Amino acid sequence: MPKKETTFFCQNCGNETGKWLGQCPVCKEWNSFVEERVAKTNTAVRGNTSIGGNVARPTPLSEIPRDNDERLSTGIGELDRVLGGGLVTGSLVLVGGDPGIGKSTLLLQVCQKLTNEVKSVLYISGEESLRQIKIRADRIGQFTDSLQLLCETNLNTIEDIIRKTVPAVVVIDSIQTMYCEETQSAPGSVSQVRESTTLLLRIAKGLGITIFIVGHVTKEGTVAGPRVLEHIVDTVLYFEGDRHAAYRILRGVKNRFGSTNEIGVFEMQEMGLMEVPNPSEYMLSGKPSGASGSVVACLMEGSRPILIEIQALLYQSSFGIPRRQATGADSNRLNLLIAVLEKRLGLQMGSCDAYVNLAGGLKNAEPALDLGIVLAIVSSFKNCPIDDGLVAFGEVGLSGEVRSVSMSMMRVKEAAKLGFTACMLPEVVLKYCEEEAHRTGIRLIGVKSVADAIAVIV
Ligand code: TYD
Ligand code: MG
Repeated sequence: MPKKETTFFCQNCGNETGKWLGQCPVCKEWNSFVEERVAKTNTAVRGNTSIGGNVARPTPLSEIPRDNDERLSTGIGELDRVLGGGLVTGSLVLVGGDPGIGKSTLLLQVCQKLTNEVKSVLYISGEESLRQIKIRADRIGQFTDSLQLLCETNLNTIEDIIRKTVPAVVVIDSIQTMYCEETQSAPGSVSQVRESTTLLLRIAKGLGITIFIVGHVTKEGTVAGPRVLEHIVDTVLYFEGDRHAAYRILRGVKNRFGSTNEIGVFEMQEMGLMEVPNPSEYMLSGKPSGASGSVVACLMEGSRPILIEIQALLYQSSFGIPRRQATGADSNRLNLLIAVLEKRLGLQMGSCDAYVNLAGGLKNAEPALDLGIVLAIVSSFKNCPIDDGLVAFGEVGLSGEVRSVSMSMMRVKEAAKLGFTACMLPEVVLKYCEEEAHRTGIRLIGVKSVADAIAVIV
């Protein structure tokens, strides 16, 4: 029997089956299977190359030179922070995000900055014409001739050009438009995206150049052609943000050379993306003073504390089943906290609609927000405003106890830096923060339970 050359791939999650299925058994998406040709593996090539480009040979750690572990600054501090201190040569960085979020803009700005550091940078676009890129570049500013542009979607041609010119950094915008001649499925399909990325990986590791890959995101929020891609690359960055807000967040979700969960904050302006070095100030701008249901909490994004306003609105429901809705925060957590307040403090919220919102459009489900959410809910319920100089953080347990959270000292420090006068925190972490409080003069209010916390504000 002749060997089958086609396989069915789920275009949503990359799952592979031998026959067509109506629904993907892994991601449960309907009608997502597409038949694709699979590339025949070229055994002659496979036999003698490693991804380092040399003949494969086991090496002891002590013999591996350390010379290429220094990092190249991208010239954009917020991006360096997410990358773990800068670019590592020979790495493959995937930048994912919704269309129009600013991926091309960010990478063009990176190219602009990098031309000061390295000799040549190559920007390859499969989506836009050279003129369109020029229009964008004109908005961003001055460019030197070290930046070369190329409109091309054939990766075999791209490989030839890269091997000939050996630029220090290459940008591929976007991986969904690229194709290898050997893989006969359409650009953007799972097998094509995978083969293309593997080819780029070989180029990056072999020549020691850094390659940025732009990837589009499916409606579920993963890079299209998806998990397969995340496994191959070294670093995965997601560019996210509210379409209606000007700020954008670059989040590291995988990093072989640094910690993940770091974020970089940018603002989209007329002249491209600007860094926001102090996100707390940015998030708190526009906070109403003296309004009930509003409280400032402190969350951690990676190693960075960010102050954020939590808003709550409770009012008598006009329906049989009250609505509970959280924007930015975790909805299940909201239900749980309301249950705790009803049971432990006897507050009758059962017939109230409750809305909680993290102002500014940030999304975060950290339990350290619990105390802030509880205070905002009670403040709205009792219609009593909370002191504008107060910041609160702490996890709330089911018995109504306020539990400790990590990095409390950094949170107190951030609150003091922004001029807040008091900080409500779990009593158990008081001892770690007293020194900081002494130095900055911020007043610490240690609480053991939600009852203690409520007693402070009403
Ligand atoms: P773009 O980088 O093209 O997004 P992506 O590559 O992720 O699809 O970003 C386009 C958006 O950014 C577009 O809506 C216009 C806006 N923009 C600005 O507001 N200011 C600028 O200086 C630039 C270049 C773009
Ligand atoms: Mg683009």
